[in-house]
Parts: sequence; structure tokens; C-alpha cells
Amino acid sequence: MNMPRISHFAVALILGAVIARAQTPAGEASRGKDLYDKKYLCSACHGFSGQNGVGARLVPMKLTQAGFMAYVRHPHDTPTGMPPYTAKVMPDQELADIYAYIKSLPDSVKKAKDIPVLNDILNNQK
Ligand code: HEC
Repeated sequence: MNMPRISHFAVALILGAVIARAQTPAGEASRGKDLYDKKYLCSACHGFSGQNGVGARLVPMKLTQAGFMAYVRHPHDTPTGMPPYTAKVMPDQELADIYAYIKSLPDSVKKAKDIPVLNDILNNQK
């Protein structure tokens, strides 16, 4: 009988994808809001909009979910001391929910050309 051959490489790729998926569960933005605003107080440092406060801007979120989760688990040392939210205090699912919530927040910063006064300034350079 002729069995289709699957290369070790393909198996490794599939396993890798399955593991990566297991490590980054799908988040639910509606659950993330309460976690972000109240339970873990990300809002205290990053603002309710994710765009102000003593912490870095989180909107627009440029990190991948995996990168985001790795950072929040082990933030770099900062003067204001973002606490490490390790798996002991925050399950992966909640972190995924927070990520989904941050991704859903609108970026309120407009481009200069979209604000009439600034657009005039841009256009009057010549
Ligand atoms: C006590 C204040 C504080 C709290 C609470 C806090 N953070 Fe932070 N966070 C910071 C500061 C300050 C930075 C900027 C660090 C730097 O630039 O080196 C930061 C950076 C980050 C970054 C990296 C942003 C980037 O693009 O580099 C992410 C992501 C983040 N915080 C997410 C969170 C989440 C999610 C929570 C809640 C679970 C949270 N933070 C709670 C202070 C805080």
C-alpha cells in the first residue's frame, strides 16, 4: 500500500502551529474591558483609552499577541515599575482578553492633514 509521506518538517510545522495556538488563546474584548479597567488596573498607568498616563501608549497596539503576553508577564524594569503579571496572578485567557480589548480601542490621534488648522499650516509651507 502506498501511504502518503509526511516529512518531519511538515509535522514539526503543524506541531509548532498547534503549540503556538495553545499558548495564545483567542481573546474576548468584552471580557477584557473589566480586566483592563478594574481588576488589574492597567488603566491606572496606561489610561482608560490606552493612550495616556505614565505608561507607554498601548493604542494602536503594534505588538503581536505572543509579544504582548511575553511583555506583560515580564516587563522590562521601568522607573514607574509596571508590575510583572505572571501566570500566578493572571491566567493566559485573561491576558488574551485584555489584548483583544486593547486591539478594539480606537486610535483617537488624527493625522495633521485631517485637522483643518494643521492642514492649512501644512499647505502654506511653500
Ligand atoms: C504601575 C504602572 C503600570 C501598570 C499598572 C501597568 N503598566 Fe504597562 N507599562 C508601564 C510603563 C511605565 C511602561 C513603559 C515601559 C518602557 O517604555 O520601558 C509600560 C509598558 C507596557 C507595554 C509595552 C508597550 C510597548 O509598546 O512597548 C505593554 C504591552 C503594557 N505596558 C501593558 C500593560 C497591561 C496589559 C497592564 C495591565 C495588565 C499594564 N501594562 C499595567 C506601566 C504600567
